[in-house]
Amino acid sequence: MNKKILIGNWKMNPSNLIEAISIASGIEGDIKISDKIDTAIAPPFTFISEVSNVISKVSLAAQNVFWEDEGAYTGEVSAKQLKSLGVKYVIIGHSERRSNGETDIEINKKIKLVIEKGLIPILCIGESKKVRDDGVEKVKNFIEEQIKKDTKNINVNELVIAYEPIWAISSNDNARPATPDNIKEMIAFIKEITSESINVLYGGSVNPGNVKDFTSLNDLNGFLVGGASLRPKEFISIYKELL
Ligand code: PGA
Repeated sequence: MNKKILIGNWKMNPSNLIEAISIASGIEGDIKISDKIDTAIAPPFTFISEVSNVISKVSLAAQNVFWEDEGAYTGEVSAKQLKSLGVKYVIIGHSERRSNGETDIEINKKIKLVIEKGLIPILCIGESKKVRDDGVEKVKNFIEEQIKKDTKNINVNELVIAYEPIWAISSNDNARPATPDNIKEMIAFIKEITSESINVLYGGSVNPGNVKDFTSLNDLNGFLVGGASLRPKEFISIYKELL
């Protein structure tokens, strides 16, 4: 059985280092070393270094990376730099980045470099509400296209996929989590078109109140959690359901 993976995506939060340390320490305090689950937090770049000093049982993830590893690229952060801070996972292609113009070609280059540097890419994919409203066949076509472009010339077994329907992400208007049936169907489809052994996570409004609805899904390998990962008690409750 694959190890479960739980990633906390802090997005552009919190607003200062003291709070970042407090959230990270709160999570670290209640995590046990386990061979069943790997728990990671993805602080903004600005806090990764300091957060790394207060965690040891929790792994580190980054929310983005640049597709070149060195050179004159003002404002960018390289995989080499992330690795030097102990980062293990890199979230790539989050819908919040795609909506700001990140392209499949860029995502593909980022995944390639991250794998080459020995980090694990978490590729985020997911359809908009409009595509979902057009029916599940349209959703599958969309997801297949996204995966095809993003993983071109890449061994899919080297990455983790996070299925995050955009309409389910808590910060979006009228967000609601996908149903267990939606998730089950999409995981089966993603594994069918990639690899049976690939790790697929679900993300979108996962919280302590609904996590039990999803943990019984056999093929689900874990969660990418946004909002609830900023509240240590909630994140730990989710973690405990995966144990
Ligand atoms: P959410 O975010 O858990 O707040 O819905 C998930 C994500 O965007 O990764």
